[in-house]
Amino acid sequence: MEKIKTSIVGGSGYAGGELLRLLLFHPNVEVQQVTSERFAFKLVTRTNPNLRKNTTLKFCQMDELKSCDVLFVCLPHGSSSKRFEQFKSLAPKIIDLSADFRLNKKDGFVYGIPELHREEMQKTNFVSSAGCNATATILALYPLFKNNLVDLHKTVVEVKVGSSEGGNKFSESSHHPERSGLVRSFMPTNHRHNKEIIQELSFGEKITVHFSATAIEMVRGVLATCHVFLNENLEEKDIWKIYRKEHGNEPFIRIVKDREGIYRYPEPKLLIGTNYCDIGFEKDPNSNRLVVISAIDNLMKGAAGQALQAFNIMHSIDETTGLDFPGLHPI
Ligand SMILES: NC(=O)c1ccc[n+]([C@@H]2O[C@H](COP(=O)([O-])OP(=O)(O)OC[C@H]3O[C@@H](n4cnc5c(N)ncnc54)[C@H](OP(=O)(O)O)[C@@H]3O)[C@@H](O)[C@H]2O)c1
Repeated sequence: MEKIKTSIVGGSGYAGGELLRLLLFHPNVEVQQVTSERFAFKLVTRTNPNLRKNTTLKFCQMDELKSCDVLFVCLPHGSSSKRFEQFKSLAPKIIDLSADFRLNKKDGFVYGIPELHREEMQKTNFVSSAGCNATATILALYPLFKNNLVDLHKTVVEVKVGSSEGGNKFSESSHHPERSGLVRSFMPTNHRHNKEIIQELSFGEKITVHFSATAIEMVRGVLATCHVFLNENLEEKDIWKIYRKEHGNEPFIRIVKDREGIYRYPEPKLLIGTNYCDIGFEKDPNSNRLVVISAIDNLMKGAAGQALQAFNIMHSIDETTGLDFPGLHPI
């Protein structure tokens, strides 16, 4: 198979850098260009030091981009849609990691969670990769909403997130003395990802998801704790069956619910660098509350890994190609 020529726009950022790491080792891919305005003409290893001895590529500016087969766009929200016409003229296929095209199939983009949109991805040229917190939440709750098993207006989700979610631009809140050791509630309501979650978990009827986000002492990772209230009197074995039916054949979803040991439920730390989404649950013995817990690496299943999974699907390549790292333990 001839190699697919790809370029990354915004490769000096955390999501673009992670994508570069993955694409350099993908057997069907050639990385043609990587852009950064700040670091133009410098080696990509200036901002991605983990890639030393693996590439001699240098950053170029966005205006120097040449035609390629697939453009991965890793720009901040708002920047990507502004340049959409330029990007479209450069590549027949675009995978965008920002929030610009995630809602309402804007400009023909397919929402980028493969587990929900695999068939559409096989036919599309444009994928809008899903938000990281949205990915963790949607994958955790999809089996329950799809099968209409929960109260549609009582769901409460709390995500705990690491600092790399905020990208590599520093700010007052990311300054080390202010960020280190914190547990900071930064978006108790009104998080941007809430709309994506509602879009993907709605199956005809209106739903409500009460969503909050808290920053914690962690570099990579999202842990979503989702409280739902069951419509029916289901036992844990019934819930197992439903999750197995919906997610059992998914290469990157693991149901994690052990009776013993210290890793009984999903933990983001174990997923660093992997494309897995681990999902666990426990039924409250005293009520109809079910707690579903999911974990991902925000830069992998929440960004670059999921984008590469979509790329593989769009090109009829085995979905797991370039994504087989199982993680590290201990870490
Ligand atoms: N971090 C995550 O966990 C995560 C997860 C899912 C999705 N995403 C999305 O992926 C995109 C990139 O996120 P990131 O975390 O990688 O951000 P980041 O670390 O801040 O990187 C942003 C990239 O865009 C470039 N850029 C071009 N024009 C820019 C502008 N006007 N302002 C700022 N940067 C500009 C930056 O490089 P130059 O300034 O050198 O050109 C840099 O390469 C965002 O839309 C984000 O929402 C991120």
